[in-house]
Amino acid sequence: MKLKKATHLKGTIAVPADKSISHRSIMFGALAEGTTTVRNFLRGEDCYSTLHAFQSLGVPIHDDGQTITIEGQGFNGLKPADEPIDIGNSGTTIRLMMGILAGQPFTTTLFGDDSLNRRPMNRVMLPLREMGANVRGHEQTEFPPITINSTASLHPINYQMPVASAQVKSALIFAALQAQGTSTIIEKETSRNHTEEMIRQFGGVITTQVKTITVTGPQTLQGQEVVVPGDISSAAFFLTAGAIMPESEIVLKNVGINPTRTGILDVLEEMGASIAFSNQDDQNQSADLTVQSSTLQAVTIAGDIIPRLIDELPIIALLATQAHGKTVIKDAEELKVKETNRIDATAEELTKLGADITPTEDGLIINGPTPLHGGRVSSRGDHRIGMMLQIAALLTDEEVELEKAEAVAVSYPDFFEDVARLAKGGNSE
Ligand code: S3P
Repeated sequence: MKLKKATHLKGTIAVPADKSISHRSIMFGALAEGTTTVRNFLRGEDCYSTLHAFQSLGVPIHDDGQTITIEGQGFNGLKPADEPIDIGNSGTTIRLMMGILAGQPFTTTLFGDDSLNRRPMNRVMLPLREMGANVRGHEQTEFPPITINSTASLHPINYQMPVASAQVKSALIFAALQAQGTSTIIEKETSRNHTEEMIRQFGGVITTQVKTITVTGPQTLQGQEVVVPGDISSAAFFLTAGAIMPESEIVLKNVGINPTRTGILDVLEEMGASIAFSNQDDQNQSADLTVQSSTLQAVTIAGDIIPRLIDELPIIALLATQAHGKTVIKDAEELKVKETNRIDATAEELTKLGADITPTEDGLIINGPTPLHGGRVSSRGDHRIGMMLQIAALLTDEEVELEKAEAVAVSYPDFFEDVARLAKGGNSE
């Protein structure tokens, strides 16, 4: 498709609900006893993959268009699916479900699209096997389809994680909740903690001390009312657009600001961007964020901030093309195993539009500011690459053609409409 144009962006939008919390609301709702209601569920393809997967496992889930209602079955009430379950594009769904299904007394096969079927699963399968799980990939590989066979019982684990990954951590926590005894999981770096927070919300017990997580199974969870805040990873596109487009001011309503997710706000502040917080709700960990056009300076992004902004790095790379100086992103090798290799995809696609950006083994080096020009680019089937390229296209008067634009529906189905609304100075509320 031909990407949208704007001279500036102005207005107020409510970005879509948080993807990580939406997935987990279905999972915890299914595994709890009693009813869970979810308001502001993310109606994106990835979260529907989770919803449909749990329906296939016999969990009644109703949707009245506003609220999702889940009739929890407890850890012992899931039923075998009639056939292999299609997980689509969603890494979070497949990895967390591996941990959930590892403790179940029946066999399940999970498969995905071409992208998901190429993503590494040993990071979850190897520690699950240490817990006694019987889980394997397709034809002796680590790749999906993944088959999780029934296991007599899971043992607790004491595990030092070799990668910084909330998906791996969460899969192990779900397995540990079903094991008999106390598991200890030590993170490489602190990653998003929604699983831990939601265990507490659903009446369970889990402790975190710096990077060490301790959880004792088996536990019983109780259904809750979940209200999902907006996704800072979706807000990131407009935080960037507002900062780099001239004469812009965007208000983003009800954005989740859990501190394990706010690395992008730290980076924007360090670059010199103008971001104001209002209506902060500490209980809900959310706030309205207002961004204005700013003059930006280059920064170095490395170390323990990386998991706090891992999904934002493609759009941060675009931000850096408009900052003064050399921005260095390192320690981000995890980008290579996302929906695409995001180091290569970001560098190659932005180079097509005139950016000065070089891929490295574990990140990117970007020199700025650089004017961008038109061209033909591709999302490569990766939602976050597609949205980043739409924001890049706002920086040139020339035409930018985006292939595989439909990928944005994974996390932000109305993304292009919201860009158009802000280009006209409007609101999406
Ligand atoms: C997620 C964890 C991250 C992130 C993904 C969502 C989650 O993946 O990239 O979009 O909800 O747990 P990793 O755990 O692989 O870093």
